[in-house]
Amino acid sequence: MQRFEAYLSRNLPQVSTFHPVYEKALGAMLQAGGKRFRPMLLLSIVDVYEPMLYDSALPAALALEMFHTYSLIHDDLPAMDNADLRRGHQTLHKRFDEVTAILAGDALNSDAFYLIAKAPLRDDVKIRLVELLARDGGSRGMVLGQAIDCYFENKPLDIGQIKMLHTNKTAKLIAVSLQMGAVIAGLDREIQDKLYAFGIDLGLLFQIQDDIIDETQSEEEAGKTTGNDTDKNSFVNLLGLEETVVQADTLAKDLQRRFEDFDEKLQIALQPLMNKYLYRHKG
Ligand code: IPE
Ligand code: IPE
Ligand code: MG
Ligand code: MG
Ligand code: MG
Repeated sequence: MQRFEAYLSRNLPQVSTFHPVYEKALGAMLQAGGKRFRPMLLLSIVDVYEPMLYDSALPAALALEMFHTYSLIHDDLPAMDNADLRRGHQTLHKRFDEVTAILAGDALNSDAFYLIAKAPLRDDVKIRLVELLARDGGSRGMVLGQAIDCYFENKPLDIGQIKMLHTNKTAKLIAVSLQMGAVIAGLDREIQDKLYAFGIDLGLLFQIQDDIIDETQSEEEAGKTTGNDTDKNSFVNLLGLEETVVQADTLAKDLQRRFEDFDEKLQIALQPLMNKYLYRHKG
């Protein structure tokens, strides 16, 4: 984690320009913090299987965090969730303006792929990483989820549709973080697929927990605008808080069981993150 934070601080977007706030806006939300869940998933896998590749994997880990941060900057815009607080700071469009926030998001999206392309990894590995991040971040992944999330505000979806929405907007990027770690570590396709499938359910749980947090935590606790899902197809709005917590517990227990069937090395890799996040909805 510390190595990742140090790498991030050294590799914030640098652009020398007479624009007074551009460079600051590019780095502000990356520097603001966050759980770093996605880069930690990737790096945990690499650390256990190919520790010699850890430093070479840092650009790919930062690419994931940049891509995710772009999605958050855009998610907070007035046209989307209209939020004022993110990662304990004013959202970019509040601190600067909407144009700056839109463009900072655009830049982080492109820069993520640039980082992967320039990483000291084998070319075939890098092409695969670009393919995977684009597959799950783009039109059939995160963007699709966000499109459905916003288009269907105040238009109730059924539980299957909400799961599909959460899978796209959140779970795919979490699942692909594990898969990208496995690709860098050279793990075979079967393990990649197993990790990806696990990551999808872990990501679904992560978004259900996020829906619970929107309902139960204050802005100060969450570091972001909460009580903001009234118009949304959130789990809490469909099932109520109590039933959502029951569902989150059930999914967490199922993930715990599947996790215990993983081979020992994988368990060592992921145990700290599992401990921290499987039951975070319990506060
Ligand atoms: C928030 O993601 C948006 C979701 C996909 C649930 P995180 O909860 O990972 O946000 P940060 O990165 O810690 O700020
Ligand atoms: C956003 O989901 C998921 C993204 C792809 C950014 P939310 O809108 O629930 O995320 P928060 O609660 O604002 O962090
Ligand atoms: Mg949103
Ligand atoms: Mg939001
Ligand atoms: Mg939310």
